[in-house]
Amino acid sequence: MTTKKADISWKDLKFGYLKTDYRFVSHYKNGKWDDGQLVSDDYLRIHESSTALHYGQQCFEGMKAYTAKDGRILLFRPDRNAARMRQSCEALLMAVYPEDKFVDAVKKVVKANERFIPPYGEGASLYIRPFLIGVGENVGVKPASEYVFSIFVTPVGPYFKGGLNPCHFVTSEFDRAAPRGTGAAKVGGNYAASLKAHQIAVEQGYTDCIYLDPATRTNIEEVGAANFFGITKDNVFVTPDSPSILPSITKYSLLHLAEHNLKLKTEQRDVPVSNLDELVEAGACGTAAVITPIGSITHCGITTKFYRDGTEVGPITKKLYDLLTGIQFGDIEGPENWVVEL
Ligand code: PLP
Ligand code: COI
Repeated sequence: MTTKKADISWKDLKFGYLKTDYRFVSHYKNGKWDDGQLVSDDYLRIHESSTALHYGQQCFEGMKAYTAKDGRILLFRPDRNAARMRQSCEALLMAVYPEDKFVDAVKKVVKANERFIPPYGEGASLYIRPFLIGVGENVGVKPASEYVFSIFVTPVGPYFKGGLNPCHFVTSEFDRAAPRGTGAAKVGGNYAASLKAHQIAVEQGYTDCIYLDPATRTNIEEVGAANFFGITKDNVFVTPDSPSILPSITKYSLLHLAEHNLKLKTEQRDVPVSNLDELVEAGACGTAAVITPIGSITHCGITTKFYRDGTEVGPITKKLYDLLTGIQFGDIEGPENWVVEL
């Protein structure tokens, strides 16, 4: 049976919040998680002294559901998000939500909101936001003994305006994370720390900022909501290697596709900001950003432009985009277990 779709102008969707019918909520108390349930209330009632509110003891994930041409509903590598949430929880001493139950809960909430999953070919998808927060009475700086795990979904369009038109970035004077801090965990504090840097970049007329590595401030790190990659003059796919960037599932997927499908050499290594001329193409990649071509990067007043003077998506970036989105929307067969059908 096909569900009647919500009355939404799918093509006009931006990356924003739209209330859907159900969210999944589970509580952790006395050392165990309850079974969790789908609820329609989009508000959470939590104690005023919750660690999530005061000490940032919280983490989240970002993933998407896609409608294939034949109507199947597909998830992209949800086991990777489950594993990354476990790592984020471990970094902040939070109760871990079991990885298999995480994937089951994602399927449940996506299915329950089927009418909000954008149809194939509309340039949109259903964004899935699992999050886990420390709650309960707790004033001292210590881990909570109670937690809430929840997942909401919302239909979204592109994160960066312009689709495959290149965006322009500037390096930030701020760091989003400390060298031995929480940069590799998907925790709210990293994002709070990025808000001002983002605003300054936008006020200067850029799409967003790029962070430098906080240890030496000499290498490209990542964008506030996406990883960075570049293609060298010799067709090598390079992406920064740093302990303070978020291990992007999209980035690891691109590394695999570049190597196995496009037969490119790949390197995870330092990408010096003083040597951006080595790159002929550059891009930002992530669940929300998908692949966004980077037209130029400005650093200390000097602008380096990439493919065709920063005006067009480069051919390798385009091939990677077509491959990645082809797999995500079920048009191209991807590596085993990457795509999970509902
Ligand atoms: N880096 C940051 C800071 C992010 O917020 C995201 C988004 O999740 C990414 C990178 C990309 O990660 P992924 O490809 O797993 O979505
Ligand atoms: C994602 O790509 O899922 C992200 O988490 C980016 C988000 C912070 C908007």
